[in-house]
Amino acid sequence: MADQPSTPAAAAGSPTGPASPASAGGSPSTHVVPQQAELVAGPDPEGPEDEDDFDGDSDSALGDDAASSTNSITASIMEYRTIQGRTYHSEKHNSKYFTPNDEQQLQSQDITHHYLTLLIGDKLFLAPIPENVERVLDIGTGSGIWAIDFADQFPNAEVIGTDLSPTQPLWVPPNVKFELDDCTQPWTWAEDTFDFVHGRYLFGAIADWTEWFRQAYRVTKPGGWVESCEADVEILSDDGTVTPDSSTELFWNMLYRSAGAKLGVTFQPLLENVQNKGLEEAGFVDIQSYTYKFPVGGWPQDKRLQEVGQYVQLTMLNDVEGYTLFLWNTVMGENAPGYQEYLAYMRKELRNKRIHGYMKCRFVFGRKPEKTATA
Ligand SMILES: C[S@@+](CC[C@H](N)C(=O)[O-])C[C@H]1O[C@@H](n2cnc3c(N)ncnc32)[C@H](O)[C@@H]1O
Repeated sequence: MADQPSTPAAAAGSPTGPASPASAGGSPSTHVVPQQAELVAGPDPEGPEDEDDFDGDSDSALGDDAASSTNSITASIMEYRTIQGRTYHSEKHNSKYFTPNDEQQLQSQDITHHYLTLLIGDKLFLAPIPENVERVLDIGTGSGIWAIDFADQFPNAEVIGTDLSPTQPLWVPPNVKFELDDCTQPWTWAEDTFDFVHGRYLFGAIADWTEWFRQAYRVTKPGGWVESCEADVEILSDDGTVTPDSSTELFWNMLYRSAGAKLGVTFQPLLENVQNKGLEEAGFVDIQSYTYKFPVGGWPQDKRLQEVGQYVQLTMLNDVEGYTLFLWNTVMGENAPGYQEYLAYMRKELRNKRIHGYMKCRFVFGRKPEKTATA
């Protein structure tokens, strides 16, 4: 079983799966955070190893609302870099972010959003923010799906989502807006601006996590909350079904390990404990941390984890190339041979129900203390 939520608040969560409704407004002591069911495999499947959990075209169920521009964008921002037909964020930013910003990758982001909310009991976040939350910031918003859902759920809040690319839809709730901003540069908002700052799946994007949390602290209002959700990208197994000679190990895990070192960023933020450390060093209090194992594929016994795993498989099958192309070129050299073969093997392993792979993600949140009379 994964590191389970271990605080008294967490112990109140459902032991059989994250099924409780969103619980905004609780105090840290009464706040209920869902626990994860045990991640064990269901019975061995019959039939071929590489049978998909999903039928048909992997992306056919997805809408096309992740449009590619916003109204106020100048032409230079739209001059994306292109690598083998995939587009990446504009050269204008110094950051070298590793996934494309095109429709195919945005679809994967939307599916990822779905499995992450499923994993934590159909919630968007775990921090005990108040119902009357006013100003909210979502850093590295991607397709904008979290910010849009948050704005829908809290119609009185004003939500800002930022990213390197203007890849968010045009038709959004009136209380959400998107801005271009590189979060590795000094943040432009004034001190004490936001009630809630959120960052999710920024692994591989941030060289200095301490600074990221310091900036988040500065722009958060006293009493406000910051929540970070990150994942370690390496795929593990507890029963040896991810073997040392698999493509999962030799291609996927190897790429992320090597590219992280080369690019000076981590794809293992949990292993390096960047979230807890960052929140503590910045000065946050009431920090709570919840780690979940999420399956790659629909192999678990537990129904909800099975569903989560099917969506994880879908997000990866939808765009294994998008997750790896830039890294392959970075680690192996531009257009190095063997890439297409690895992609094919990787897809086959992703479909193999006898491989019980999983990744880990962690939700960590903390509160900025109120100002004291002497502060
Ligand atoms: C994996 S996506 C996650 C999107 C979104 N947070 C979610 O969870 O649905 C990471 C996003 O971070 C953005 N990003 C990467 N580096 C960034 C930076 N330096 N400043 C702002 N956004 C960045 C990428 O463009 C991408 O859209």
